[in-house]
Amino acid sequence: MSDIITQRHCKRAFLNTPIKNQTLETILEAAGHAASSKNTQPWQVAICTNKTKNKLIDRMCKKFDQNEFEQPDYHYSLDPLPNEFKERARACGYALYKLKGIDRNDNTARVAHFRENYTFFGAPVAMIFHLPMGSQRGNFLDMGLFMQNVMLGLVAHGLGSCPQFSICSYSDTIRETLNLKNRMIVCGMAVGVPDESAAVNAFIPSRQKVHEFSTWHT
Ligand SMILES: Cc1cc2nc3c(=O)[nH]c(=O)nc-3n(C[C@H](O)[C@H](O)[C@H](O)COP(=O)(O)O)c2cc1C
Repeated sequence: MSDIITQRHCKRAFLNTPIKNQTLETILEAAGHAASSKNTQPWQVAICTNKTKNKLIDRMCKKFDQNEFEQPDYHYSLDPLPNEFKERARACGYALYKLKGIDRNDNTARVAHFRENYTFFGAPVAMIFHLPMGSQRGNFLDMGLFMQNVMLGLVAHGLGSCPQFSICSYSDTIRETLNLKNRMIVCGMAVGVPDESAAVNAFIPSRQKVHEFSTWHT
């Protein structure tokens, strides 16, 4: 189990090998065993492939190319970010650019890299995780546990993923395309067989040591 947890890292390049619905169902069934407060199981997920995924990609990329963004349904993080968060985020971004051969001052290449989010990095499956409109922090906590289970289940089946808050910049477009009335768009996820020949997929950002994020009270 520890192996599956530590093997999971984001994949940002995929083969176009189709994924069987049955495999996804098996993973989702297991992921649904996630804990949730009072067993409320607030999570819902839209699995997009083929025409619908392409329609979503077309719509998001069209807006992206016109520099048009929508308001996410929720604030993701503290604002301003605490310095140590900022440092880790910056280090992660620069390491990714380096692996992709992008000069940190090359704005065009950086935009192209970011745009790949809106094509789900070429993945054959795009998942959209959503909650009832007005959901609260606890519901998001439950959703996070579910999403982690999905990602670990994918690893167990030889698949890879990348969770994507970036797609929340097109929450209205997603709602309209998938007919998700009154739903909060929480996160996307690119899913597929990772292209292990892509340098970007070897990226494993560093982690804090246990003593840095834990205190022991005896
Ligand atoms: C909720 C959430 C949203 C994320 N959104 C994006 C995203 O939009 N694009 C992206 O490339 N990575 C995204 N990531 C991936 C993180 O950058 C990644 O998990 C982090 O750098 C740690 O790397 P690892 O997952 O490969 O270990 C997201 C991760 C989480 C948990």
